[in-house]
Amino acid sequence: MLDSKLIEKESVFIIGKVFSVEGRTVKINVNKNKNHSHIIYDGHTIKNISVGSYVKILKGFTTIIGKIEGEYIEEERYYNREYNKEETKIKRFLQASLFGHYEGGLFKQGIKEMPLLDNECYILDKNEFNDLHKFAKTNETTIKVGNLTEEPSQEIKISISKLFASHIGIFGNTGSGKSNTLARIYTALFEESSKFAHFQQRSKFVIIDFNGEYAGPMVLTEEKEVYKLSTIDGRGDKYPITEMYIEDIDILSVLLEATEKTQKPFLNRAMNSGFLTDVASYRRSLENSIRTIFKKGEKNIGISVIKDLFRDLDNLTETPLDDLRRGIDENLIQHTQNGDFRWQQDGTVEYENEESVDLYAEHFSSSVNNMDFKSDILSQIQLKIVLNYYHEIAHGYSNQEHIKPLIGRMYKKFASLAKVIEITDDKPNKNIFVVSLKTVNLEMKKVVPLIICKQLYDDKKKESEKSSLNIIIDEAHNILSEISQRESETWKDYRLETFEEIIKEGRKFGTFLTIASQRPFDISPTIISQLHNYFIHRLININDINAIGKTVAYLDKLSFDSIPILSVGSCFIAGLATDLPIKVDIDLLPYKQRPDSETINLETHWT
Ligand SMILES: Nc1ncnc2c1ncn2[C@@H]1O[C@H](COP(=O)(O)OP(=O)(O)O)[C@@H](O)[C@H]1O
Ligand SMILES: [Mg+2]
Repeated sequence: MLDSKLIEKESVFIIGKVFSVEGRTVKINVNKNKNHSHIIYDGHTIKNISVGSYVKILKGFTTIIGKIEGEYIEEERYYNREYNKEETKIKRFLQASLFGHYEGGLFKQGIKEMPLLDNECYILDKNEFNDLHKFAKTNETTIKVGNLTEEPSQEIKISISKLFASHIGIFGNTGSGKSNTLARIYTALFEESSKFAHFQQRSKFVIIDFNGEYAGPMVLTEEKEVYKLSTIDGRGDKYPITEMYIEDIDILSVLLEATEKTQKPFLNRAMNSGFLTDVASYRRSLENSIRTIFKKGEKNIGISVIKDLFRDLDNLTETPLDDLRRGIDENLIQHTQNGDFRWQQDGTVEYENEESVDLYAEHFSSSVNNMDFKSDILSQIQLKIVLNYYHEIAHGYSNQEHIKPLIGRMYKKFASLAKVIEITDDKPNKNIFVVSLKTVNLEMKKVVPLIICKQLYDDKKKESEKSSLNIIIDEAHNILSEISQRESETWKDYRLETFEEIIKEGRKFGTFLTIASQRPFDISPTIISQLHNYFIHRLININDINAIGKTVAYLDKLSFDSIPILSVGSCFIAGLATDLPIKVDIDLLPYKQRPDSETINLETHWT
């Protein structure tokens, strides 16, 4: 540039001088001829400096960059009415917060030197502004996420390695654009992925989709596998889970909502009981329990328990037990008439001699010896639990009151589980898969994602090759919320342990979490604070805003204060992928690629 041109440019772009420096905050006294909304240079109009825009401060050879956070005026104290126009009476000040500098022509976060008083302050020109918003090196693959809200001609591109090799949080009220943002970044990634030869073999993406928003054929990518789970009928897809995970005591405890003190240890004993190994041992144990229970004849541990036992077994045997159950009563009546048994006041039965018991038990023994049990893994697990329960009751190792509720809820839980998972060593066929939980009941909505994520993460840890796993959870408060009272402690602990481990250690194993939620306040601060990249849409609730404010160090005060007034689709991006927090209008995906989360329009519904 010619010198004269340079001088001309500088005189146009200069806006004032540093008036004071206090910590990170710099006050700028604005030149009196720069109080217009736009300035004209070289045939272009350029937006003049205002709150939210950037300022460049020159200190010798150092260039320092700040963001304007406030603006105010003061009246000139020594003002001569005779010689001045009325408008020059006012002094305009800008308050800027420093956040970066240029080094070797490249923008760097952070400050090395503070400005001095009277250093000159400039508006950024187009190129400088561009540079500031270029977050990737030229050889890096990027995705375009949207355009800068305040300067829509500025495209925002983010390096895929900086974004997707990190834990990502997407927050905002319902309808603020989270799902679109989530889909936008991953759709763009999957579009770019075709240029990577080993993408399919070396990456895995699981989308935990609570509302069934990502199951559409065009959403995210056409190259995905969709598991539409359903507990309504048995016709939904079933997600493949390895046997080991269902037999895991922690997972079983979560599934069965086992209490920490009595039920969890009981499950542990049941699953590790040495005497329940095959069908013969099941039969033996059963017969032994029946005899022992009967001989005890204690209050509450007598005939009624034997009846319970056969009712429980009804769910788990191949052979129908109707006849047998009827026989219990018939035999009982017969033995009573014979005088072998005598009914007590408290409802228990007293027997005449050991032989009469044996005689009565014989009836069961023959049935038990022909009994066939269901052989699928889920039934076998239940069988072990039931048989162990009656074994312990019979021998007085456990208290009925403590364990019975667990047995009571077990069948329903296992029945739900059997509708949505399949026990197999198979794995999903594609590297991108969506697990839709839209028609899954509340209990399974909590347990199933946990099992899936745990299994994927454990598998990943065992893999030695270079590969990545991205676990993507929309509406993440469904499983990551901390404050819900209804949940058992076991569930909370185990789930937090699992996800907090992924957050803390996942990086080492190439595992990354993306969570979207409308209630950041509900999510454990350990998780929120360790995310690397944040997309923050409009949030209204003060608790939610504070949850972000407390943990997201990347966000400046001005941005933070404007979270409640963001418009739909507009969000702050802050974190490792962008050098500075920016406000971006995220691209709205084309209709067919949009997550199926359209805000309901009642008028069109009703007409
Ligand atoms: N970036 C965007 N630009 C314009 N409109 C958007 C954008 N993102 C979302 N919307 C609109 O807002 C609605 C809700 O978006 P959605 O992503 O489902 O929000 P959330 O997941 O936060 O509830 C969508 O139906 C869409 O029409
Ligand atoms: Mg959503």
